[in-house]
Amino acid sequence: MAELLLEALDLTRHYEVRRGLFQPKGVVKALNGVSFTLAPRRTLAVVGESGCGKSTLARQLTLIEAPSRGALKIRGVDAATADAATLKGLRRDVQMVFQNPFASLNPRKTIATTLAEPLVINTPLSAAERRERVEGLAAKVGLRPEHLRRYPHMFSGGQRQRIAIARAMVLNPGIVVADEPVSALDVSIQAQILNLFMDLQDEFGTGYVFISHNLSVVEHVADDVMVMYLGAAVEVGDKRTLFASPRHPYTQALMSATPALRKVERRQRIVIHGELPSPLNPPTGCAFHKRCPLAMPRCSEEAPQLRDVDGRRVACHAA
Ligand SMILES: Nc1ncnc2c1ncn2[C@@H]1O[C@H](COP(=O)(O)OP(=O)(O)OP(=O)(O)O)[C@@H](O)[C@H]1O
Ligand code: SF4
Ligand SMILES: [Mg+2]
Repeated sequence: MAELLLEALDLTRHYEVRRGLFQPKGVVKALNGVSFTLAPRRTLAVVGESGCGKSTLARQLTLIEAPSRGALKIRGVDAATADAATLKGLRRDVQMVFQNPFASLNPRKTIATTLAEPLVINTPLSAAERRERVEGLAAKVGLRPEHLRRYPHMFSGGQRQRIAIARAMVLNPGIVVADEPVSALDVSIQAQILNLFMDLQDEFGTGYVFISHNLSVVEHVADDVMVMYLGAAVEVGDKRTLFASPRHPYTQALMSATPALRKVERRQRIVIHGELPSPLNPPTGCAFHKRCPLAMPRCSEEAPQLRDVDGRRVACHAA
């Protein structure tokens, strides 16, 4: 079996917050015990509504923050116990692409400088070798040689995202974590950028953790899917299994809310009422029970654990 790129074990991140001047501190349970693995050339899509902890997960995977509990292994190395030199290597190996490429590019630097920078810092390559690497990669992401002399404001949103992707790939990382990388783009551009991600994966064997709230996007790129609700995974499995027969009521509701998917499957629209509860004060038992059309008395008392059901893992008493 190929070496695993990522192993997340019970990854948890809580934030202490002050609710008011004279009130005790509260704890936001943004990420609450998430486990998964990622192999080379695979794409794990993470899906769930706003506030369910997707970006918090991304910050743990890219070592921007340390988890409150649980472990993260990158190519078998535990990030928590790695020494400084090893950690530097791990950081190189996990790169990130953000939703807003404009915010993540330095407006005062040419594209050539931005793309070469990681090579200057992290590799012994000569200037000529760096130029060769940058030009080659720029071509692969669909930029022309003259683009390299320009500045970020001279590009469209889609082109800027191509630049951000090139920068993430310039050190040839094993893993790319992409947090809503096409959400800010015109729908007409989104498919091109998704195809670019997939072409680069084909060529370099990169593993992707691909965060999106859009199930049509997920269906396009994913091999595996993890559906999150209030900081936890509620259903995890390969894309075909999950899309053909979602077993968690929340997954079912998300799919039924995506018209393109509903048409294919001739599914009924399932409407979930109410808001995502606050991770400061999560419900007892199943976190979804106040909105679940199948909720039963047991659901408000006992939290369901992920278990194997029909070839995927589901956390639901009714599945
Ligand atoms: N530094 C922080 N301090 C306190 N609470 C935080 C912090 N970062 C995130 N949170 C809270 O944790 C929860 C999860 O946030 P997160 O940004 O991970 O969600 P998300 O799934 O990425 O949402 P979106 O789809 O809107 O990007 C939210 O309730 C958020 O308010
Ligand atoms: S455990 Fe109960 S409340 Fe939670 S999703 Fe399943 S049926 Fe609904
Ligand atoms: Mg987010």
